[in-house]
Amino acid sequence: MTPPARPVAVVTGAAGGLGRAIATGLHADGWSVLLTDLDPAAVQSAAVPLGGWSAALDVRDEDACAAVAAIAASRGDLALWVNNAGILVTGASWEHDAATRRRVLDVNAHGAMNGTLAALTVMRGQGHGHVLNVVSLAGLVAAPGETVYAASKHALLAFSLGTLSDLRMAGYRRVHVSCLCPDGIWTPMLHDRLDDPGAVASFTGSMLTAQRVAARAVRLARRPRPVVSLPRWRGAQVRLLDALPRLAVALTPLVRAAGRAGQRRQRRRSASPDRR
Ligand SMILES: NC(=O)c1ccc[n+]([C@@H]2O[C@H](COP(=O)([O-])OP(=O)(O)OC[C@H]3O[C@@H](n4cnc5c(N)ncnc54)[C@H](O)[C@@H]3O)[C@@H](O)[C@H]2O)c1
Repeated sequence: MTPPARPVAVVTGAAGGLGRAIATGLHADGWSVLLTDLDPAAVQSAAVPLGGWSAALDVRDEDACAAVAAIAASRGDLALWVNNAGILVTGASWEHDAATRRRVLDVNAHGAMNGTLAALTVMRGQGHGHVLNVVSLAGLVAAPGETVYAASKHALLAFSLGTLSDLRMAGYRRVHVSCLCPDGIWTPMLHDRLDDPGAVASFTGSMLTAQRVAARAVRLARRPRPVVSLPRWRGAQVRLLDALPRLAVALTPLVRAAGRAGQRRQRRRSASPDRR
């Protein structure tokens, strides 16, 4: 008897960091994973232990996203598309030029929209599927020092939840959109930010490992939910601050102090090999 075919998943930004950990977790959970990234050599080598299926993909390219969705669908039903690719810039909003602001929004918001819509073209046709968007706690509340990044993640959250409602209004009951909103994760995105005063917001909570976030993503892949925060208590905390903007602004000095302490804590952890 032939074993049942593995469900097909696509992960963007899968050459390293969280994307690679999600692809690894999905592969272990029985998915056939197409790893994609801007960096073709890095994603090809990341894919080797996971079935060797990879493709170069710049998520800013709408046609390329559609082409990847078609490639994935040629192996079976496209059951999952994870929009994970993202970039971070830090500093006050007035410190970035227009090109930098546009780049962050292009990758984090438009790129994830391109991926979502490419996947939904296939998923609406087959009548089922799941788009999992990696947002951030910065999609739930403004993050001082990470203002442009937070704006891009707010856009992604609104787009994702709006699209989910659009699907239901159009009668698609088995096509899902989930948003995963993690706290800071110790990945290359933060590795050179231990002295960056603009990055303090990422260090105010409990620094997560990519493996822990990936494990939650894998469970979410099986059981879609509109919004999941990790850890949950941080989601509740930032939503409260979002609901009370005057309080949030008044607490900014506290955020900075907590973030600097978090940066020092993480520096000690990274310097000690067995606590990394
Ligand atoms: N690290 C954190 O603290 C943190 C916290 C919450 C959410 N996130 C989100 O998690 C996701 C993964 O981040 P990470 O921490 O692994 O970052 P990372 O920098 O380690 O990895 C990002 C990956 O995305 C790829 N990428 C960048 N631009 C791309 C593009 N235009 N097209 C395709 N791929 C592109 C990079 O090549 C890289 O492999 C991002 O969406 C990020 O915003 C990260």
